[in-house]
Amino acid sequence: MQSDTAAWKSDAEGYCIPLADTTSSDLKTSAPDPRAPKRHVTANAAHNIDLPNHDANSQECCSGHTNEIELVPTAGMFHREQLTQQAMAGSSGPSAYLNRDELLSMRTASLSSAPISLGTRRTNSPHEFYRYPGRFSPAFTRAAISVFSQKDDLILDPFVGGGTTAVEALVSGRRSLVADLNPLATFVTRVKTRPLAHNSRLAVQRWIDQLPQVTLLSRPSPETDIWLDQGYLKGLDTRLTWRIAKVIRLALAIVDPTDARTEAFCRCIVLRTAQWAFDMRSTVPSVEEFRSTLITHGRAMLKVAETFAESLDKTTELPYVMEKGVPGLADSVSKFTIQKPALVLTSPPYPGVYVNYHRWKLLGRREIRAPYWIANQLDGHGLAHYTMHARAEPTLRTYFDRLRRAFEDIARLVSATTTVVQLVGFNNPPDQLSRYLSTMNDAGFQEVLFPELATADDGRLWRSVPSRRWWTEAQSRRSIAPHTAQEVVLIHRLKQD
Ligand SMILES: C[S@@+](CC[C@H](N)C(=O)[O-])C[C@H]1O[C@@H](n2cnc3c(N)ncnc32)[C@H](O)[C@@H]1O
Repeated sequence: MQSDTAAWKSDAEGYCIPLADTTSSDLKTSAPDPRAPKRHVTANAAHNIDLPNHDANSQECCSGHTNEIELVPTAGMFHREQLTQQAMAGSSGPSAYLNRDELLSMRTASLSSAPISLGTRRTNSPHEFYRYPGRFSPAFTRAAISVFSQKDDLILDPFVGGGTTAVEALVSGRRSLVADLNPLATFVTRVKTRPLAHNSRLAVQRWIDQLPQVTLLSRPSPETDIWLDQGYLKGLDTRLTWRIAKVIRLALAIVDPTDARTEAFCRCIVLRTAQWAFDMRSTVPSVEEFRSTLITHGRAMLKVAETFAESLDKTTELPYVMEKGVPGLADSVSKFTIQKPALVLTSPPYPGVYVNYHRWKLLGRREIRAPYWIANQLDGHGLAHYTMHARAEPTLRTYFDRLRRAFEDIARLVSATTTVVQLVGFNNPPDQLSRYLSTMNDAGFQEVLFPELATADDGRLWRSVPSRRWWTEAQSRRSIAPHTAQEVVLIHRLKQD
């Protein structure tokens, strides 16, 4: 990959959009027909992904948790040239070019246990447009970007989830290339990082203004609904939920499909509100409460979108968002020309942890696939597809095998000066950490330790995981004490032979 700004071009609004992720289609939610064979059709063949024939309701999809992580930022002085010098110098040690005080304060700040989200009150950034499970904190992301990269550098996140890295890269003036095999993840990442033009904002406003009338329960339901026929609304036909489901159907029925960004944004407003209403809460709100929250969320998100669009420097390239897994990403990326990343900042699924990235848990119990219906994305995989392993395999052999193949692919995308920063969680650190590190080694990476960051005798930055509501729930079934959940920041570079 060579540095090449031609990887982006200006769109009608003057924003620099990725060439291989074109704007006319990048927010087009691919309009899949859930009756069609499980294959995504997007504008760029490089992004196509085949969905094998998994039973979406299989027993694999059992449980999950929201992983609240908060690492607080600090200013950094670790620049790319320094990395380059270090890589060349070889033995001078990773901290040779670093400011000791800054590293120490980064360590202190990283141990903050403040929760990421503060309930419905916080909607003041695109991060809150959808609360993707397992997301890491924007503050941690910003700090890592600031320490390990410079303006116009490329940041890569191959497990981007809800898009934290993409949003923070964009606001920090960095290019980014982010990917995930979950279409729900790429949908929300695109909505969070594609500025809404004035006309699109007006169209969203018109949609919000119609909601009070159009979503009245006395209105007839939309006549045809292939999503309903295909079972995407399963679980929402109960006494407690059918009214809200009907409001959602009525609201989606009047979304304007002719403007991709407007459509995706309106869908995301519904997605956020439906997640609030259905996912992991002990009661379902009333239909009136749902409708008014939908409107409140819509107005708040629109306001954020306006501020966000105005705050962006139009010369900053918008992130490449690819619906693609690793391995497989390196081949897709090789089809276009782009610079090597200065930083890989990511958080893969954790070993032994089964997060429902693809399901909501109605009343904390029943798994529903409604997010795919609302986002207009195809669903078709079980839990193991997204967590890199199934519960049935406690040896974690599949997990580490898939992790190795993923990082072998990532190794093809980076250079000797790229820093790889990962946040990884373990419920059994002594065993899982050593396997993790040896997998990284097998994939071609060597660990870099920064003594000033260390919080433990092993020289690494460890933290206990706060607010693991669903971790507790998930782990209790497997008799693993939730308090053993620990996260570590791992830093690697390619092995120098
Ligand atoms: C811990 S989450 C990442 C969360 C992210 N850091 C954020 O802030 O939202 C891990 C993600 O990895 C994705 N994933 C799992 N296996 C993958 C693979 N082989 N290739 C790409 N993405 C994968 C899952 O779909 C999930 O979105």
